[in-house]
Amino acid sequence: MLYSEKVMDHFMNPRNVGKIEDADGVGEVGNAKCGDIMKIYIKVNDGIITDVKFNTFGCGSAIASSSMATEMIKGKPVSEALELTNKAVAEALDGLPAHKLHCSVLAEEAIKAAIEDYEKKKEAKSE
Ligand code: FES
Ligand code: FES
Repeated sequence: MLYSEKVMDHFMNPRNVGKIEDADGVGEVGNAKCGDIMKIYIKVNDGIITDVKFNTFGCGSAIASSSMATEMIKGKPVSEALELTNKAVAEALDGLPAHKLHCSVLAEEAIKAAIEDYEKKKEAKSE
């Protein structure tokens, strides 16, 4: 089969879908080739990601990757979330077809962008 059960599960029942209105950080990334867009919102308290939500306008693998990635960083320190690789996300999904690996890259990039945004906002506040 092309897709693992875990990919199908996270595609059919994605976790953490939505938007955080008062997010501490928002990251949006897109893939120019396929046109898919992913947006991730994080809420941070004392350096811990207490909540995370995503909206993905894209393929099934991108949705499954963002769903899995949000689960992997929820409740984790920001520093740990920064280290999340697309490889780890793909592995947690029991693998993705080779031509779908870029979908998990999108998830890694969206999380990094959200954390960057959070850090920028934090700096602005302390100035
Ligand atoms: Fe079809 Fe991304 S290429 S949804
Ligand atoms: Fe582009 Fe999945 S095909 S993110």
